Amino acid sequence: MASEVLVANEAQLFDRLDEQKPDALLQLIALCDADTRPDKIDVGVGVYRDSAGGTPILRAVKKAERILWETQQTKAYLGSQGDARFTELIRPIVFGEGLAADERIVGLQTPGGCGALRLGADLIAKANPKARIHVGQPTWPNHAPLIECAGVEMVFYDYYDREARRILFDRMTDALEAAAPGDLVLLHGCCHNPTGADLELDQWREIAGIVARRGLIPFVDLAYQGLGNGLEEDAAGTRLVVEAAEQALIAQSCDKNFGVYRERTGSLFVKGSSRRNAGIAFGNLLQLARTMWSMPPDHGAAVARIVLDDPALRADWQAELGEMCARIRALRARLAAYDERLAYIDGQNGMFSMLPLSPAQVLALREEKGIYMAGSGRFNVVGLSDDNVDLFAAAVVEKMDG
Ligand SMILES: Cc1ncc(COP(=O)(O)O)c(C=O)c1O
Repeated sequence: MASEVLVANEAQLFDRLDEQKPDALLQLIALCDADTRPDKIDVGVGVYRDSAGGTPILRAVKKAERILWETQQTKAYLGSQGDARFTELIRPIVFGEGLAADERIVGLQTPGGCGALRLGADLIAKANPKARIHVGQPTWPNHAPLIECAGVEMVFYDYYDREARRILFDRMTDALEAAAPGDLVLLHGCCHNPTGADLELDQWREIAGIVARRGLIPFVDLAYQGLGNGLEEDAAGTRLVVEAAEQALIAQSCDKNFGVYRERTGSLFVKGSSRRNAGIAFGNLLQLARTMWSMPPDHGAAVARIVLDDPALRADWQAELGEMCARIRALRARLAAYDERLAYIDGQNGMFSMLPLSPAQVLALREEKGIYMAGSGRFNVVGLSDDNVDLFAAAVVEKMDG
């Protein structure tokens, strides 16, 4: 009888699972949606917003979608590398013409930046099950789960002091100087999420020097290229470390800079110590991709390819991306000008910055003013509009005083 009960319990496969906490950001979206106050302010969600509060489809993307619809002849399989022409066109955007010609760098299309990060982590674990990766804190909340899933050990160091509103560069260099040769280092290429605090070019140079001297392997997450200070400027740090390092991984996303979030569009590049090693890494990437998504979704990459292959569409994409970037910069400047305690926001990049507010203060802003932001104080600058940016700044400064 007892053994029958045991057998019955063991058969309850899904009863063995632990309950998972709902995603805090998705909960925030639901709360905001349910709020009927007309002047509520949503700075929680991490997508670009225009002045009317929408997340538009870019002009060039819309045109390319029409071209794709009219000209695509087949939906037959493409293979695990996805759209090879897309990756070829993304390559110089990420690396610049010089480094893009390096034959030790290989790349393939992935389902967004998340797919690239996960695939990169899997490649690392496959190559070295004892690999360690150094991760600055705070970081994007999905980094740890993605890396953990692949079984790569994480070592944390403090990257940013929220109260002092500055990067803890000494802590970063100390951590990397103490890292073992062959250790990996996760780096945000630009527009650090969640802090907005990017390294200066001189600091990138210093990191590149340490990486080269200590034989570390950078794993760069480049999810927001073009939304900080421009396509070239935002890739400058990445190029420095990739050039300096013997081996590197670069997870790239088009989901933000093409505004194609749900189309899951990105790529992973790997730099090997030789052309041969890079080729072997590429073969392993194809095999790993095959076991996860087999091949990436086509639409977003096909659209980005059409845009980048057509000079007029490419120019329009760059112009609109420039407009988005300028809007973010203008909102940052407005916040900074409002009060000296917000001045640091203008020196930061991308959609996010962090306010030195306690979870209780964040909650009070939500309840009293209808301002929705993550409990950490991270807010999406571009969730604001010309009409409410001063109201937001006033409410935040009032809480800082309280
Ligand atoms: C820092 C960072 N890396 C990667 C990603 C993943 O982007 P994707 O939507 O292309 O998977 C995000 C998305 O929010 C991000 O913020």
